[in-house]
Amino acid sequence: MTTSATDPVSAESNTAPATERVVIFDTTLRDGEQSPGATMTHDEKLEIAELLDDMGVDIIEAGFPIASEGDFRAVSEIAKRSKDAVICGLARAQLPDIDRCWEAVKHAGRARIHTFIGTSPLHRAIPNLTRDEMAERIEQTVTHARNLCDDVQWSPMDATRTEWDYLCRVVEIAIKAGASTINIPDTVGYTEPRESADLIRRLIQTVPGADAVVFSTHCHNDLGMATANALAAVAGGARQIECTINGLGERAGNTALEEVVMALKVRSDVMPFHTGVDSRKIMHISRRVSTVSGFPVQFNKAIVGKNAFAHESGIHQDGMLKNAETFEIMRPEDVGLSGTSLPLGKHSGRAALRAKLRDLGVEVGDNQLKDIFVRFKDLADRKKEVFDDDILALVNTTADEEAQHLQLVNLKVICGTGGPATAELEMEVGGTDATATCQGDGPVDASFKAVRMLYPNKAHLSLYQVHAVTAGTDAQATVTVRLEEDGRIATGQSADTDTVVASVRAYIHALNRLLVRRGKTGSDVREISYKDA
Ligand code: KIV
Ligand code: ZN
Repeated sequence: MTTSATDPVSAESNTAPATERVVIFDTTLRDGEQSPGATMTHDEKLEIAELLDDMGVDIIEAGFPIASEGDFRAVSEIAKRSKDAVICGLARAQLPDIDRCWEAVKHAGRARIHTFIGTSPLHRAIPNLTRDEMAERIEQTVTHARNLCDDVQWSPMDATRTEWDYLCRVVEIAIKAGASTINIPDTVGYTEPRESADLIRRLIQTVPGADAVVFSTHCHNDLGMATANALAAVAGGARQIECTINGLGERAGNTALEEVVMALKVRSDVMPFHTGVDSRKIMHISRRVSTVSGFPVQFNKAIVGKNAFAHESGIHQDGMLKNAETFEIMRPEDVGLSGTSLPLGKHSGRAALRAKLRDLGVEVGDNQLKDIFVRFKDLADRKKEVFDDDILALVNTTADEEAQHLQLVNLKVICGTGGPATAELEMEVGGTDATATCQGDGPVDASFKAVRMLYPNKAHLSLYQVHAVTAGTDAQATVTVRLEEDGRIATGQSADTDTVVASVRAYIHALNRLLVRRGKTGSDVREISYKDA
């Protein structure tokens, strides 16, 4: 660890530093999931909520219950299953929204209603309300929410572009009407750290009653300053940070949970705050969110990127071998990466695989282990060493077998220079075997055409992404495919040492998921967005 005059580690070993608690409010399932293409299934939302609860997140914003039947069901179920976390739902400043939100969150041991309205001049123009009319609406809706629920959070959307006097006025109204948390959103990622700190500090100093509520910060990352702005807001007096796993969220995303948690942990010498999050659970949830949302984590992403703890240059490796602190300010284990990573091989048995999965923070039932083991053996036959990332890729592609209307039986591809590629595909469609041969511009194009020939569909391919899971030419490729059809979005993923096979499996996976969504008569299609407020 880094040592300095104010070394956090040695300070901890003497007497624990008197740091203040910052509440972590995770909105991966609401703001993150709202990001186009990041849609998660019902079961995936429940899984992520459980992981968030287990890792010590204080408040989980589980969704926007009025937006769709699917959101309502997910928030209700998450509320019913919650353990320690407060379960929060989002509601626009409208009475039916707030009622619907309460219906969903009321099952939680601890529930919160989060209601909001856009207060900047641009946002006020949308519902076409005057300043006075909006002030009245805020008073009425926060009071209504408070009559239903003891814990009410209120947000003036686009606060950082709201006139100072009006912002003070509406915050005061919300506090008087019973809001106990005031969240200050930088909706468009416009602010910068000094301004972010000043805004919170001045609000606390100016608004009557401000000292009796918790101020919260909600930053978007359009200028790459979301984490810096959130931490600055804490320095200015905020005691709740809104964030998402991997910084998931619309446009450039939100403040990343892993970044603020680790920044507060590593630099508690200059930021004397702590959170209740168990940082060793960060890596696992990051990988799960990436898989289920279909949003890969950037390789050099802080804390959770593939390269965040990799030291490849000779000079770095030399330094690391002599003393890990030369180039590391955190230990990989602190974020849940196992320090030593012994690869498994084709002679490894089921017990070794289970032990490895436990090591990686993955608990599986006997049936799932059986399934993963079969695929592990198949992979080990083709690949000399099976690394941690290979195992995780297997887990991520085995965990979701929700619909099997379409199944790949066999694929043969002929391709080379100077001509189109040809794919011969055998696929099961609703239990019936069918074959097709297609030509295309490369092996993936030819194979996808063959899938479409056997299962005609209008789904638009909005994302096709390939990542090598590990190094080497025998590395598995993880392929992500996102499809869009009539407002429904489905993401499929698969991993294989053969990139074309992984691509076809991912495509079929996404089609199967789309089928499930169609079957639910559009229950997960959002009729409204929070921007309609
Ligand atoms: O960015 C934003 O303003 C929001 C609010 C709904 C809090 O997400
Ligand atoms: Zn937001």
